[in-house]
Amino acid sequence: YSSSSSSSSSSYNATQQRLPGAIIIGVRKGGTRALLEMLNLHPDVEVAKAEVHYFNVEEHFRRGLAWYRAQMPFTLPGQLTVEKTPGYFAAPQVPARIWDMNPAVRLLLIVRDPAERLVSDYTQVLHNRLTRHKPYQPLEELLLRKGHIDPGYKALQRSLYHQHLARWLEVFPREQIHVVDGNALIRDPFPELRKAERFLDLPPRISPNNFYYNTTKGFYCLLSAGHDKCLDESKGRPHAPLSTQAFKKLCRYFRKPNKLFFEMVGRSFSWC
Ligand code: A3P
Repeated sequence: YSSSSSSSSSSYNATQQRLPGAIIIGVRKGGTRALLEMLNLHPDVEVAKAEVHYFNVEEHFRRGLAWYRAQMPFTLPGQLTVEKTPGYFAAPQVPARIWDMNPAVRLLLIVRDPAERLVSDYTQVLHNRLTRHKPYQPLEELLLRKGHIDPGYKALQRSLYHQHLARWLEVFPREQIHVVDGNALIRDPFPELRKAERFLDLPPRISPNNFYYNTTKGFYCLLSAGHDKCLDESKGRPHAPLSTQAFKKLCRYFRKPNKLFFEMVGRSFSWC
């Protein structure tokens, strides 16, 4: 048994790249990065660090499963590989493609107040445009048309969780999709992680000691093997402004879709 060689020793210690046993499918801005990093605290979990976008981007999908597997981390037998690509949730072609890869794969869906999610989504797009010196429109111009919510606004459509989830439920049984409460994950991550461990059939290894509230960041950060890690500054940044009046319209708009989503998942959330 040679321990001196580094990466080439993979055949000795049986590490391999394996297809994911669990996938975080969305929602965009729901807390997908936080959930992935927090699951990675578990000794039996290894994660693909970058978003893979295999099932939703044709150019990637055409490369086939060998390419997908090559994006995965090296794992030992018995370890669980997890990847996250929030773009999967709203892409119509994805559920059947994932089923074809592995009909037993476990899916994690982290949701957040859809009005808050929309503003976060806009804020991310705005930030990207500003850094590329591209023109941008204020949120209210995109969101409202003659004072009414414009149902054509893309970020609004991404918050209609019931519409997207309905397509997943045409392919996967409800029990195979675990819903994580993104607002609860922000307030207190540990209970949500414990539930995720149970869903993934992992022994409980993540503990409250893995988290501490960082008052400067205003969010929980991670502690593992003496290392302290907060998510980068694009996670938990101030939101673009939106008038109280417009936000209220948004909340009213989401009331019905939210109710449909609650019925679909069999639980409710205290969203605006
Ligand atoms: P905001 O930046 O709008 O606050 P995603 O990783 O899916 O893009 O989600 C980003 C969101 O994760 C952030 O949205 C933030 O609220 C949330 N989040 C949850 N837990 C967090 C944590 N511990 N640190 C930073 N952001 C966290």
